[in-house]
Amino acid sequence: MTRTRSIFRCSECGATAPRWAGRCSTCGQWNTLAEEAELAAAVAYPATTQRAVLLAEVDGDAAAPRPTGVGEFDRVLGGGLVPGSVTLVGGEPGIGKSTLLLQAIIAMAGLGLRCLLVCAEESAQQVKRRAARLGPLPAGVWVVAETSLAGVLAAVDEVAPDVLVVDSIQTVFDPEVDSGPGSVTQVRACALTLVRVSKSQRLATILVGHVTKEGTLAGPRVLEHMVDTVLTFEGERHHALRLLRATKHRFGATGELGLFEMTDGGLRGVPDPSGLFLGDRRHGAAGSAVFPAMEGQRPLLTEIQALVAGSNLAMPRRSASGFDGGRLALLVAVLDERAGVDLSGRDVYVSVVGGVRVYEPGADLATALALASAAVSVALPTDLVACGEIGLAGELRQVSHTPRRLAEAARLGFRRALVPASAEAPNGPLEVVRASTLLEAVGLLQLRRPGNGAAGESGARPPAPAEWPRNRAPVEAGSIAAATTE
Ligand code: TYD
Ligand code: MG
Repeated sequence: MTRTRSIFRCSECGATAPRWAGRCSTCGQWNTLAEEAELAAAVAYPATTQRAVLLAEVDGDAAAPRPTGVGEFDRVLGGGLVPGSVTLVGGEPGIGKSTLLLQAIIAMAGLGLRCLLVCAEESAQQVKRRAARLGPLPAGVWVVAETSLAGVLAAVDEVAPDVLVVDSIQTVFDPEVDSGPGSVTQVRACALTLVRVSKSQRLATILVGHVTKEGTLAGPRVLEHMVDTVLTFEGERHHALRLLRATKHRFGATGELGLFEMTDGGLRGVPDPSGLFLGDRRHGAAGSAVFPAMEGQRPLLTEIQALVAGSNLAMPRRSASGFDGGRLALLVAVLDERAGVDLSGRDVYVSVVGGVRVYEPGADLATALALASAAVSVALPTDLVACGEIGLAGELRQVSHTPRRLAEAARLGFRRALVPASAEAPNGPLEVVRASTLLEAVGLLQLRRPGNGAAGESGARPPAPAEWPRNRAPVEAGSIAAATTE
């Protein structure tokens, strides 16, 4: 390792600066710059001995993903792990990263792969005890409790695995690197070596990286550009639900969501997530709307809840959980200006149930309806789903995959869908109701106080709906539950 000069690297975004500063000039985070010795480029990328080959003669199948045997993990990876690839799995401590990867290793060993687990944080005995909770242990799983990089490489040489898991990259260190264990320099240097070894030995490597909310550990973010795939494992530690997403994936799409439930016997894939999210829904409560979201290729029904409460704050609270705060402010303004729903002077809370995050603009309509419903204490019909984006003029815009969203809603027993007038949505299993503006939607659902018209419309009534909501069934507790069990 040749030391040339010192540079300062941000532990959040990985940007470098020639001098220390209190704030990273690239990402704006405070106190994230740490000194490191600049690695000579030759160390990072050794001279290669690869020859140019004809593309037509390259065996593409050699880079085909191999299933891990953990269904939800494979879904997120787009089929499985690619030999020679490096995957970073990030998440807060205690969320279940070690459990997930141990399960994946056991499943892959069951499929005949040689797997080596470097447990730099736990002893081999602790891993064994954990494995015992997860089921029978097949042959083909090696474990080494090692923190030095040289020890890890020696174990790789000895075992010659197909799959290497390093749990975690922050605890592995290289004594030759002039920096303390866990520092940005160490983490980067060790990861670079492991990336090189993976590529040259066609080893599928998974690195575990802890992320803390405070970002105090050398964040996995500095590794993101080095690896092929970045997965984040998240969820509330006090809830059983865990979500796995890809934020970067060189070999496939990043939109897929993997869903797990933490049980006494490890992580279980969740086969019917919509059912799970709607399981505890209270029927007939004001401030609740159901949005058929798309997570990658999978429709997922989520409940969006809103609460509007009197406020004695000079600046009333606008609080969003699982939903974008800026988007909430926009919806509150559009509701007020364009749909006659006045939320000024009141605290507003929006929460997406089940620890899910919904950042699609398609959730606008359901969120706005939940807010309007909470504002006037009138429940939305329990068998209704709503999807559509809301523009600043209060117009409703269609979102992608509307038919698939509605099909999932129908499968779960919903009977009606409120969609933008332009939406391509067949009147199939669901009765499709269309509205072209938020004002019209709020009027259709009778969510406005009498005489409380939108600005400039002085209480103008929305266009009379043809068939609906005259035949709207009264809100009946349990009507969806009954329909779902049919
Ligand atoms: P762990 O995989 O150690 O988290 P991480 O590696 O991300 O720090 O998971 C820790 C939590 O999971 C711990 O609170 C115990 C719980 N757990 C179960 O509920 N069931 C299980 O079968 C296992 C192995 C762990
Ligand atoms: Mg762990």
